[in-house]
Amino acid sequence: MTSTASMTKPPRENAPPPGATESLILAETDGAVGIIRFNRPKVLNALNPELMTQLADQLEAWDADDSLHVLLITGGDRAFAAGADIGDMAERSVVEMEQRNQFATWDRIRRVRKPIVAAVSGFALGGGCELMMMCDVVVASETAQIGQPEINLGVMPGAGGTQRLTRAVGKAVAMDMILTGRFMDAGEALQRGLVSRVVPPEHCYTEALKIARLMASKGPIALRIAKEAVNKAFESSLAEGVEYERKLFYMLFATDDQKEGMRAFVDKRRPKFEGK
Ligand code: CAA
Repeated sequence: MTSTASMTKPPRENAPPPGATESLILAETDGAVGIIRFNRPKVLNALNPELMTQLADQLEAWDADDSLHVLLITGGDRAFAAGADIGDMAERSVVEMEQRNQFATWDRIRRVRKPIVAAVSGFALGGGCELMMMCDVVVASETAQIGQPEINLGVMPGAGGTQRLTRAVGKAVAMDMILTGRFMDAGEALQRGLVSRVVPPEHCYTEALKIARLMASKGPIALRIAKEAVNKAFESSLAEGVEYERKLFYMLFATDDQKEGMRAFVDKRRPKFEGK
């Protein structure tokens, strides 16, 4: 379900009309920002495969839509997402899990090129933490509780947690979290570089939207390419990454946005980016 609205509140949780397919995400646009809210509040936004498919479908559709420059993902006050849906997995065999290949959907989200802002209140656990770490800028509420508690279920993170958390906070802290299942509060998450900003709960969504709007006012090509360059830091040596960055930097001189941005600075006026 997609609608357009200018708002200071996220899309409202709601129930589908009788007979309608359940919408596990709510989608709205605000100018050039596409906003998605998870809509499974009764199970703390547990991320079942249907929700993840709806999320990936919407993100991909917006990634291909030139009118949108930045995407925003949020949950509810109590939970961003409390992880993959445990009930959905509990009795599955290894063969079912392997054949189902549910994390292929998560790879679709990793390939989204536009920047994704996350507004995180309450629990971001297991797959919720892993999804948060796939976002590019994370605004956390003071209520955020972040963790990889899969060890309590007799398993381990399966959607990138052992890799992304370790890169984000280092081995010692990642081991502490993954092997004990302890939660990190927002202050610690900020101190350790796992989230970008921490704000009071009532400001979490509005702050995230403010950041998304600010980013959406920049040149959309530069936004996408800069995201790609930062992510390259996780995949390459420093020398390779710097080389890659330099090529992308030069490449941006082929865009109208570069000419407009630099001319506007010289002319002492605001740039008007066209994404060309
Ligand atoms: N999957 C399915 N249902 C979940 C869920 C999850 N991950 N997390 C919470 N729920 C459901 C609960 O079963 C409960 O449903 P009912 O009301 O029908 O009983 C409802 O959400 C509310 O939860 P609680 O009553 O447990 O709420 P609480 O405040 O007492 O505790 C909590 C909150 C600490 C987050 C607790 O719900 C919890 O520990 N949840 C599981 C967290 C977890 O282990 N996440 C990892 C999942 S595995 C994974 O994500 C693998 C991966 O790498 C992709």
